[in-house]
Amino acid sequence: MKRYKLSVFFISVFASVVFTACYYDKEDNLYGNIPCKTGAISYVNDVAPVLNANCYACHSTSNAPILGSNIKLDSYANLTAYLQNSQSAFTGSINQDGSVSPMPKGGTKLAKCNLQLITDWISQGKLDN
Ligand code: HEC
Repeated sequence: MKRYKLSVFFISVFASVVFTACYYDKEDNLYGNIPCKTGAISYVNDVAPVLNANCYACHSTSNAPILGSNIKLDSYANLTAYLQNSQSAFTGSINQDGSVSPMPKGGTKLAKCNLQLITDWISQGKLDN
C-alpha cells in the first residue's frame, strides 16, 4: 500500500512537470500584438515585397494593361510616377476608405502593419532605398 501511494505521488509530480514545462506560447503571438516595424522604411525591403505579393498580379508592367486599369506599380519609377498625381487614390484604395475602388481588388485588405509600412514610407519622402 505504501509503495502504491509513493508511485502515485511520483506520477503526479512527473505529470505536473510535463504539463507545465512546455508552455511557450507568447501572448503577442497568440493575440497578434506584435509591434509593427517603425523607423526608416525601405522601398526594396519593405514596400516592394508587400506590393509584389498583393498587387503585381494586376499592376505589373505586363499585366496592368489587361488586368489593372493600366496602373503600373511594379518598380520604384512606376510607383512614384503614379503617386505623383494619384497619391490620395492610392492610399484611399489600400485603406479601403470608400473614396475609390478598394484594393487589392477581390482580395482581403492589407494587414495593419503592411498598411503602416506603406504609409510611413510615403511620409518619409518615398525614398529609393
Ligand atoms: C485582381 C487584380 C487587382 C489586384 C490584385 C489589385 N488591383 Fe488595383 N486595380 C485593379 C483594377 C481592375 C482597377 C480599376 C478599378 C476597378 O476596376 O476597381 C484597379 C485600380 C486601382 C487603383 C485606382 C483606384 C481608383 O479607383 O482610382 C489603385 C490605386 C490600385 N488599383 C492600387 C492597387 C494596389 C496598391 C494593390 C495591392 C495592394 C492592387 N491595386 C491590387 C485590379 C487589381
